[in-house]
Amino acid sequence: MILNLSTDMPSKFLLYQQSVQSPKGDISYMQKFFLIYVGGRQPLHLQEDFCGTALLSAEWLRSDPRRTAVGLDLDLEALEWCMENNVNKVGADGYSRISLFHGNVLQPYEAKLVRYEPPELIRNIRLKEIDNNSEASAVEAVIQDGSAASTCDNCTKRISSLPARDIVCAFNYSCCCLHTRADLILYFKNVLNTLSKKGGIFVMDLYGGSSSEQKLRLQRKFANFTYVWEQAEFDIIERKTRISLHFHLQKQQRKLRHAFSYSWRLWSLPEIKDCLEEAGFRSVHFWLREMPAAKEMRSTEGFGVARDAKYEEVKSFQQQDAWNAYVVAVAK
Ligand SMILES: C[S@@+](CC[C@H](N)C(=O)[O-])C[C@H]1O[C@@H](n2cnc3c(N)ncnc32)[C@H](O)[C@@H]1O
Repeated sequence: MILNLSTDMPSKFLLYQQSVQSPKGDISYMQKFFLIYVGGRQPLHLQEDFCGTALLSAEWLRSDPRRTAVGLDLDLEALEWCMENNVNKVGADGYSRISLFHGNVLQPYEAKLVRYEPPELIRNIRLKEIDNNSEASAVEAVIQDGSAASTCDNCTKRISSLPARDIVCAFNYSCCCLHTRADLILYFKNVLNTLSKKGGIFVMDLYGGSSSEQKLRLQRKFANFTYVWEQAEFDIIERKTRISLHFHLQKQQRKLRHAFSYSWRLWSLPEIKDCLEEAGFRSVHFWLREMPAAKEMRSTEGFGVARDAKYEEVKSFQQQDAWNAYVVAVAK
């Protein structure tokens, strides 16, 4: 487990990845969607918007040596953590196949490339500089800090100069971070511009059901910690709620309260479809699965037990206590 050395606590990003994400499942569905709605070639180039620690992008790179990934997020700390803890597990060429950008999905062309020097590379430079008997204080500072990530103001690598993407995705309900219809359409237009002219798809997820429109607290036990999803009151005028994620660590007897907190507008499926069509997508498809009822989840092993249930394409779906959806939009 990756510990925060000053406190002996595991990183909040690691706890999040272990409890919230299942990148292999998402990738397998994205491949299936690409085959069904585009076909004719293998999807190789992915963009993960709202990527956080870009675990999905790292897994994408591992799945095929020809694959590349672009990640975009507002949280520089998460992007740096990704470089140090996810990309390093991809293999020797991982850093050359991923490009992480720090910026807003509404202004992707202003996003700044995250530059990262893997520690071995820095050590090599340092040794070379000592050999040359030259001044190396700047490099030394980087080594003592243990990492070397920064954003690059005048890099030639721009988000628009990379190979056109076959798939763009936005997972863990990230589109709910956008609160107005205008922003949603602007974002979807940006996605469409990023996708390959040979055909591509945008995949996002959404949750809903009667349990999602009220105050709710769910928890799930893991070997070393308990993960808590706390949903505040639901305002039906703005369709907004606040989601807080907490972690309770058994061994350390510590609580990491509000490790992550999001203000979300819970969009409905038809609102998303209308905005995607207005942005210019050719067709929109819904893949749904029912989730275990909230009361069941509170009393048994916790939510997430039905992780492996299958999604199915539907044209109509009766309201449930809880459901999850992939929304797949096909570019023209
Ligand atoms: C719910 S998290 C999802 C993280 C990751 N995609 C996942 O699957 O777990 C939402 C992420 O979106 C980022 N975010 C929110 N608004 C954004 C925006 N306008 N542009 C870029 N990133 C944004 C946050 O920093 C956060 O990392």
